[in-house]
Amino acid sequence: MIEFQRLHKSYAVAGRAVSALQPLDLTVESGEVFGIIGHSGAGKSTLIRMINRLEEPSGGRLLIEGEDVTALDAAGLRALRRRIGMIFQHFNLLSSRTVASNVGFPLELAGTPRAQIDARVAELLQTVGLQAHADKYPAQLSGGQKQRVGIARALATGPRILLCDEATSALDPQTTASVLGLLSKINRELGLTIVLITHEMDVIRRVCDRVAVLDAGELVEMGPVTDVFLHPQHPTTRRFVSESEHIDEGTLHGDFDTVGGTIVRLTFLGADTYQPLLGSVARQTGVDYNILSGRIDRIKDTPYGQLIVSLVGGDQAAAQQAFAAAGVHVEELRR
Ligand SMILES: Nc1ncnc2c1ncn2[C@@H]1O[C@H](COP(=O)(O)OP(=O)(O)OP(=O)(O)O)[C@@H](O)[C@H]1O
Ligand SMILES: [Mg+2]
Repeated sequence: MIEFQRLHKSYAVAGRAVSALQPLDLTVESGEVFGIIGHSGAGKSTLIRMINRLEEPSGGRLLIEGEDVTALDAAGLRALRRRIGMIFQHFNLLSSRTVASNVGFPLELAGTPRAQIDARVAELLQTVGLQAHADKYPAQLSGGQKQRVGIARALATGPRILLCDEATSALDPQTTASVLGLLSKINRELGLTIVLITHEMDVIRRVCDRVAVLDAGELVEMGPVTDVFLHPQHPTTRRFVSESEHIDEGTLHGDFDTVGGTIVRLTFLGADTYQPLLGSVARQTGVDYNILSGRIDRIKDTPYGQLIVSLVGGDQAAAQQAFAAAGVHVEELRR
């Protein structure tokens, strides 16, 4: 759907070219929710804004549905932008227009007849659950409602791709969850490809299929969220994951000093998460467990569990083998 080929960007600062994004290869598949995570200044906005050419690439190629869009003229660019919707952290609504009029604005620009605009706006407000608010002004809405208007407006021209630049960063956790739920629904029901950027691993975990990690303008890790979230490799990724788990690994390891046995992290994924495995392995191998920390949650629709346990006594090699044989990932944290 979207293909970056050695795409890069530098800005001219005081007459010098300063690199914001190193040459980068990336493919976003049709129908997926692709997340990009990075700290402030990592180059996330630069990257996402190159997809609809709000930001001009400095070099490389960008293909959208197989078409090279790096060299489009003004008319080509307008057509491209009708195929790509975008939502923003601060909503960017027009304060002097009502909700309905904000949503219909892209259609007005495209010269759509009034009756068609009205019908489409009604349908879009239904999709985002704002039928009752059509005649309000942005100042009369909550943050979550404003972002729903932003989403409806982004969908007005029937795009195939939706770009989200920190779309939930200005919202409280509960509103964030409901806006993310709406994005998932749009992805599922309309088959829209979504690219979203965020600095929160929790946003990635809830809605994304795959994730790329940006660090100082460089792509440092990429893969399915289940892999990257449960087995992060790069230090930056590890930090994002441990922040979202609310576990300070340093403190945790300090705590282990007073605990005996072999300390392992067990990761269960999918249906295995709900197997009564600990008990049966304990009976087979005579190993006792001391559970030090644990979490059962979901990565998008996939349940997972992570337990840090100390193994005491018994046949520990056999216990580790039994876990691995049952599809549980075992990582030894301390012998
Ligand atoms: N118009 C510009 N001119 C010069 N430098 C810029 C410009 N826009 C961005 N940069 C620089 O490019 C780098 C990447 O910026 P970008 O806005 O893409 O980061 P970001 O990951 O979106 O950060 P944030 O999370 O704070 O939004 C930063 O070092 C920034 O200072
Ligand atoms: Mg940004």
